[in-house]
Amino acid sequence: MLEGKHIVLGITGSIAAYKACLIIRSLIRRGAEVQVVITPAGKEFITPLTLSTLTQKPVVSEFFDRRDGSWNSHVSLGLWADAMLIAPATASTIGKMAHGIADNMLLTTYLSMKAPVFVAPAMDLDMYAHPTTQANLKTLSGYGNHIIEPASGQLASGLEGKGRMEDPETIVQVLDDFFAPTKDLDGRRILITAGPTYEKIDPVRFIGNYSSGHMGFALAEECARRGAHVEMVCGPVSMTTKNPGIVRTDVESAAEMYEAATQHFSETDAAILCAAVADFTPAATAQTKIKREGDQLTLTLNPTRDIARALGEQKRAEQVLVGFALETDHEQAHAQEKLRKKNLDLIVLNSLRDEGAGFRHATNKVTLIDEHSVTPFPLKTKEAVARDIVNRLVQILDEKH
Ligand code: C5P
Repeated sequence: MLEGKHIVLGITGSIAAYKACLIIRSLIRRGAEVQVVITPAGKEFITPLTLSTLTQKPVVSEFFDRRDGSWNSHVSLGLWADAMLIAPATASTIGKMAHGIADNMLLTTYLSMKAPVFVAPAMDLDMYAHPTTQANLKTLSGYGNHIIEPASGQLASGLEGKGRMEDPETIVQVLDDFFAPTKDLDGRRILITAGPTYEKIDPVRFIGNYSSGHMGFALAEECARRGAHVEMVCGPVSMTTKNPGIVRTDVESAAEMYEAATQHFSETDAAILCAAVADFTPAATAQTKIKREGDQLTLTLNPTRDIARALGEQKRAEQVLVGFALETDHEQAHAQEKLRKKNLDLIVLNSLRDEGAGFRHATNKVTLIDEHSVTPFPLKTKEAVARDIVNRLVQILDEKH
């Protein structure tokens, strides 16, 4: 969808500037023409030579060429572009954009831009969280700019948090979708379970797990973005949904999740069971807080009902069921066994032995397994992983219909 599109890529002084090369490569691979405009600080992080080699165009940085005095027109760039993407965008550039401070070529280009502008912030977590940055982003968003939110993860400072520029492929996909959103799930209804479950021990304690819900929420957003109506059943998570195509039911325990999921399944075309459902729940919940008495506390646990298995038994021939398997050993064999036992069409395997995969990471590394194939994928953001899973889901749905 980016074939023939003119993209002005603004690069600012962030360590993430090196990732601009991957953005350029992806844009060009998709048929776009790229013109780089870089700030003086940006050139400290990446050389114009690298950028002009990749784009096959001289990089614009100054108002005029110091050698021959020829004028770089920000106005003509504003007219040439089908879109402007500023990636990485520092807190400083974001602040200047929000307040019309036009002290370099990138900012004058921004102010002259006739085309839609996309901004991918990159900075340290505290700078990103600062009320000034947040207010500036809100201002920019209010002016109609598209903010591509940063991801959470390891930052150049060594700290971990939100501020890392979104994955280059995801950024390019945002642009691609802007020009022609993929609507290959239009009219489909999809059930997604997400997050952990809490099994009550007494009024203050529970058995839970480390699931954040991030993977399930990324899947819900991806399905909704592609036109699906999403019924999401989530355990206790602190995440929010953005797309109005997602209807959310909040539950706490495995039993509540079972009720909600089985209620919705018959009306859906597919279900993705991403939740980390407790396998055992206390046989009885104490009505009052259990006191510290004696040397030991023994809890009796009963198995919960396996939602995946129940849905696998109810599944009609045209419905697609996708499960997850988080394994610590004999990963592939265990996942294949689950695929069969639960009557799934696809299982998404992640291993806790893989660095950056599973709980509490913004990234994941998965292998997609069906009856006939085993397809490993590299480490990616959970949003990019969601795209891979949904691409496969669309294929299976098409095969079945
Ligand atoms: O057997 P295991 O719990 O590893 O299987 C994982 C898959 O089964 C996931 O898709 C998970 O959402 C689902 N599951 C479920 N209900 C349970 C336990 C797991 O739906 N009680």
